[in-house]
Amino acid sequence: MLTSYDYTLARLVDEAGVDMLLVGDSASNIVCGNQYTLPITLDEMIFLTKGVVRAAQHALVVADMPFGSYQVNDDMAVANAIRMLKESGADAVKLEGGQEIADAIRRMVKAGVPVCGHLGLTPQSVNQFGGYGLRAKEEAEADKLLADARLLDEAGCFCIVLEKIPAALAARVTAAVSCPTIGIGAGAGTDGQVLVLHDMLGLNQGFKPKFLRQFAHLAENIQSAVGDYITAVKDSSFPSAEESY
Ligand code: KIV
Repeated sequence: MLTSYDYTLARLVDEAGVDMLLVGDSASNIVCGNQYTLPITLDEMIFLTKGVVRAAQHALVVADMPFGSYQVNDDMAVANAIRMLKESGADAVKLEGGQEIADAIRRMVKAGVPVCGHLGLTPQSVNQFGGYGLRAKEEAEADKLLADARLLDEAGCFCIVLEKIPAALAARVTAAVSCPTIGIGAGAGTDGQVLVLHDMLGLNQGFKPKFLRQFAHLAENIQSAVGDYITAVKDSSFPSAEESY
């Protein structure tokens, strides 16, 4: 799984063979430049997801339900999840949280909405956690996360994202649930992996947590290409005769 937020990049990622495209609410940071994921709205997520859906020929498209779209009550949560599928064309939604949203997830699944869970570091709760540190280091939090994973599995989630938790705990969760787990900063013991596309392509300079591998360094390529363009325009070598009508 990789994140995608627009048609052009999603097409490349889909053609390269990724199984799932996640329209993450990390769009709030990556696309909109916000510090947190909290400000992005359901309308904005639907707008972005539409472009990714148009690009996807093979991959399953999972759209994040943004902060505020499922926490108020279960009726609103189910209505908004249905709205996401109807209006964006996404195949599934992703929600952050455990026991507190299990009933809403049960109802979404019953209504025909496939749901991906998300436990561990859940960025929509950054104000409660007070940062983006490793989660579930202590036994009590690890036990709660394991219980939450079992609840999400039982509620009908078709997969669960595990973010920034110890590798041993992620492996325990993976063994304890029947649905696949997808890790980010959760070690190699999960069934799948997810990364934020712009991070793994090296577009997001200055962001280099321990779990992130940069599979390319595109920021340098882009800056060098733009520098070459500026030079060519200024020295009048672009456009050439062949590039003119
Ligand atoms: O919003 C997002 O990009 C995510 C991934 C980090 C899993 O939720």
